[in-house]
Formats: sequence, structure tokens, C-alpha cells
Amino acid sequence: MHNSMELLTTKEVAEILQVSSSTVRRLSDKNTIKSYIVNNYNYRKYCKNSVIKYKEKLFGNANASIKVETIKNNITNISAKSHPKHYLMHKYWGRKAHNVISDYIKYFSKNDDIVLDPFMGSGVTIIESLKLNRKAIGIDINPMSLFIVENTINKVNLNKFKKTYLKIYQNTFYLYNHLYFTSCPICEKQSIIETTVWENNELLRIRGKCEEHNLFIKDATTEDLDVYKKCTFEKEKLLKENKIKFPTDEIMKYVKRSGRERINELFNDRALLILSFLLKEINKVDEVNIKNLLLFCFTSMLSNVSKMLPGDLKKCTYKSGWVISKFWTPQIHTERNIFKCLDLRFKAIINGKKEVENINPKLANLILGDSSKLKNIPDESIGYIFTDPPYGESIAYLALSQFWNSWIANDVDYINEIIIDPYRKKDYKDYENRMNSVFRELYRVLKYNKYLSFSFHNRDLNVWRAILNSCLDNGFVLESVVLQEQAVTSGTQGINKKNTLTGDFIYNFRKIQQSDNTIVSVKNPVEFIKNQIYEFITNNDGATPTELYEFLIPKIVMNHAYTDQNGNTVNIDKILKENFEYIETLNEKNKLGHSYKWIIKNR
Ligand SMILES: C[S@@+](CC[C@H](N)C(=O)[O-])C[C@H]1O[C@@H](n2cnc3c(N)ncnc32)[C@H](O)[C@@H]1O
Ligand SMILES: [Zn+2]
Repeated sequence: MHNSMELLTTKEVAEILQVSSSTVRRLSDKNTIKSYIVNNYNYRKYCKNSVIKYKEKLFGNANASIKVETIKNNITNISAKSHPKHYLMHKYWGRKAHNVISDYIKYFSKNDDIVLDPFMGSGVTIIESLKLNRKAIGIDINPMSLFIVENTINKVNLNKFKKTYLKIYQNTFYLYNHLYFTSCPICEKQSIIETTVWENNELLRIRGKCEEHNLFIKDATTEDLDVYKKCTFEKEKLLKENKIKFPTDEIMKYVKRSGRERINELFNDRALLILSFLLKEINKVDEVNIKNLLLFCFTSMLSNVSKMLPGDLKKCTYKSGWVISKFWTPQIHTERNIFKCLDLRFKAIINGKKEVENINPKLANLILGDSSKLKNIPDESIGYIFTDPPYGESIAYLALSQFWNSWIANDVDYINEIIIDPYRKKDYKDYENRMNSVFRELYRVLKYNKYLSFSFHNRDLNVWRAILNSCLDNGFVLESVVLQEQAVTSGTQGINKKNTLTGDFIYNFRKIQQSDNTIVSVKNPVEFIKNQIYEFITNNDGATPTELYEFLIPKIVMNHAYTDQNGNTVNIDKILKENFEYIETLNEKNKLGHSYKWIIKNR
């Protein structure tokens, strides 16, 4: 008999496909694999060729690693660059490397495609699309996200902006600069406070600048305490007279760190007094774009003049900015001079705006809303989706953005936020359901044969599974997974030490016209993964963690091999450690998991 007509028994097919015998029969009933009733015996035999073909499809992505290579070859900037100035105008969390996103857009979309980001955040996908002259739709539930992107891309007459800024600055300065007066410890001349350091509610140290003696640091004197008392008095007085306003919204439990109950408790009285006046002045501006850019400057400064800066008593300065993603007011904290901070933010914004002067904001359609309902986006209208979904239990975007939203009186839809927040009874199930609705919508609006890419790091395997299942259940097919290094390396993220992968994976899914997309779970996921690793390492003479994961993730995903037979999430690291050997390689580049590799264990 010719090889291609070789016939297999049910049991053999079940072995090959790693499914049960009944699944094999079901597949042949549906004609997914060809079978024959063998002569007089009345039992089925299966055409080996069609079984192999099906296996390739099922275990998917026999080509996934080739696709990864193709993507990498086309992505010239695969190494992440630091953020240009227009991405440094305002804080947001989780900003991705712009050059990488730009390359993805170039590679996966055409000039006339509309690019969509349903979790826009600070808008890197949108802004990079505009730079490439593509239309883009950005959606986010956080008003602050839209505020940041609008102010980044909007056309504003910068000269007019400067003039208006200066006027407001001067009015405020004239009224309140005296609240920063202190005397030089050498000549006793009136000088200006640059920073002060506090321990809890006690003003301890002052760093000032004398015109003659330049910078000085001193202990706070009764005179200094009196100036501050004046601030408190004035604030209380104006508040009673209804002449100032600042936010007193309740802080959400998830982001509480040092017992502060309300937003105003994150600022001292000097700051509340000056900030509320400043805000009142800005709100008087008529021209909307200019007013908004001034508000943008205002919100971008807020954290710098809050109590959230850890202080250094000796040097009388701040150790860092607002780096913890909670509302933490350290016991020893720093107060910065608002006028100095405002000027720094103003300059940063001018520099940022100059960089994006030439992009066309009309190409962008920014929508405030919940991405599980994309009512206004027609079916099959989108050419590419690049997004960075909320990771579940990590950054509480809305709770933290209250810090800004409350000052500019934005209404926030907390109910529909996608997040895992135990204090709001938002659990895994809720997260998964909502994600599922989003991917259903994404599938609907994307054109056939077009791509959805998203960055993701499987920090939490349950979240990982929830996301991937949402994609698959809605019909997307995973084509490749590429490990991408991060834009900014901080202490916890960046190059892996030994075998823990850092950076994000970028998952590339495609919407295809399906005939049969039944995914059959493999019978023994751990065995399956072990065999896959074995094969890959053998064929490639060892594999770095990056190579291995890029190869393995699509296999696991496309075969639903997430959990072991007891229902626990499979632990790939454990499979590796128990069955393979990890050795240092000397000659390869020390980059993202390239200094070590996995090999077959020597027995
Ligand atoms: C990981 S962040 C995106 C950050 C982004 N990569 C950036 O560069 O800034 C996820 C975003 O999803 C938003 N989000 C959460 N739930 C949402 C929902 N139901 N609809 C739309 N956006 C939502 C959050 O406000 C947040 O901005
Ligand atoms: Zn002096």
C-alpha cells in the first residue's frame, strides 16, 4: 500500500492526537479526519495522512517560530527605545515602547487601515498611528486617558498658550509667593523656599536660596512655622467663605496605603491654597484648547507637589517622585515649591508639544467608554488592533487616576472597569466575563485576515488563561508570540537573572474565516508539553528561555494545555527543572535570556 494511504486504528490515532477514542470517532463523523470501514470487520480505520494534517492544524502553528522570526526581521526597532518628550508630558502607568508599537503597526497594517486600541491608556498606539498617517480609534474608560491623548495631539497655538500661562502664573505668584519666604541663615535676607522636609505633620527642614549665598539648608524656625500657620488660617478662612475649592473625594480601599481617607489629605495646606487658586484662574480661560493644555500642565504637576514624595532629612530634598502605585504619604516626606514645579512642567509640555506639531489630530477618534460595547464601530471596519489590556490584579487605573480626575471634576464609570479588585467584589470571574465581551467586540469589528496584537505578561496564570480563552472562544487564532523587552528597565523588570522571563510577550492573533475551529484539549498536558520541549530542544540543539517560550506558548494555548490532570495550572518551570538541564552559554549575546539555555539532561 502506498504510504499516504496508510491506515491507522482508533487507538493509534488517539495516541497521535492525544485525545480520547470517542473524540477520534467524533472527528471522523464530522469528516474532519478521513476514515474507512475496513472490509468485513465493521470497524474504522483512519487515513494517516489526514490525521497528520489535522494534527498540524490542531497542535497549530507548526510555523509559529518561523512567523516569530519573520516578525523580528521586520521589526527593525525590536530593542525598545526610551520615551521621547511628548510621552513625558504626563504620568500614566504601563506606557509601552513607542518604537516597537510603531513597527507592529507598520508590519501588520496598511496605510489605509484603521488602527484600534480598546485600552488606550496614554495613547501610544494612537499617537504612533497618527505619526504613520493612519486613522486610529482609541477607547478608554478613564477620562484621564482621553485627557492625556487629546492634549498630546491637539493643535494649540503655543505662543498664545505661553502668554496665557504667564498671566496666570504671575497673578498667582503675586498673591502667594510670600508663602515661600524664609530667611537666609547667614545674612538673614529674605529668601525663597525650594523644598521642605516634614516628619508626619511637623515641618523640620528647609532648603532655600539666597540671592547672595545661594543654596542653604536649615532647621525650620518658629518664623517658618508661622508662615505655614498663615497658610492653614487662610485656607480655612477662604473655605468658609466659599472662595476656594479642592477635591475631598474618598480614596478607594485598593489604593490606600497610609490611612489617608480623602484626596485633599494627600496635600498640605500651603499646596491646597495655591493649587485651588491656580485652578480657578485656569478655569477662567475661554479658549478650550488652551484651557485644557493648562489643566494638563496642572494635573501633570500635582504629584510633585503632594505629600507622596519620600524625603531626605539631611539633604532636605526628595528621594523620588510618586513611584508606588498606591496613595502612600511617607512619614518623612518632601514639599516642593509649586511655582518651580509649575515652570518645569510648563517647559516639559512646550518641548513635548513641539515634537508632535506635525501630526494630524483629525485622524484620531477618541472615545470615552467601556470597550465591551463598541456600538459605534461597524462590523469588519478595523484593519489592525494593538492593545495592552489591564492585567487584572495590578495597577488600579481608575482608583489611582482619581488623584487627577477629582481635581478636574471628571465623572468616572468605576462599575465597568476591568480589574480584579477584592474590595469592589470584582473577581476573576468578573474579569474573565468582561474580557470575553471585549474580545467578542474586537472580533466583530476586525476585518477578516487582519490581526489583533496585544502585549501581555503571564504574571498571574489565571489571568493569562482568562485572556487567551477569551480570544480563542471568540474565534481568533493565535499565530505567534514574541518576547519583547521593556522600554525602561527598573529594578524589578528588565533583563532576566537566570530563567525568569521579563519583558512582555506580544501575542499576535488573526481573524480567519473558519470552517472548523474546534480545539480539542490534549489528554495529558504535562506529557504534551514535555514532549514538545523535548522535540524542540533536540531539533535546535538546546534553546534559550526566550526561544522556548516563544515556541511553547502557542502550543499550550492552541491545545488548551493550561492545566494538569488535577486542574492546577501547568508549571512550565517545574517541567523544565525536572526533565531538562539549564546551562550557561558563553559565546552568545547577554540579552533577554540569551546567556543560558536548556538542553537535554545527561543521564
Ligand atoms: C494596561 S492599561 C493601558 C496602558 C497603555 N499601554 C499605555 O501605554 O498607557 C489598561 C487601560 O485599560 C483601561 N480600562 C479598564 N477597563 C476598561 C474598559 N472596560 N473599557 C475600556 N478601557 C478600560 C484602563 O483605564 C487603562 O487605561
Ligand atoms: Zn544670604
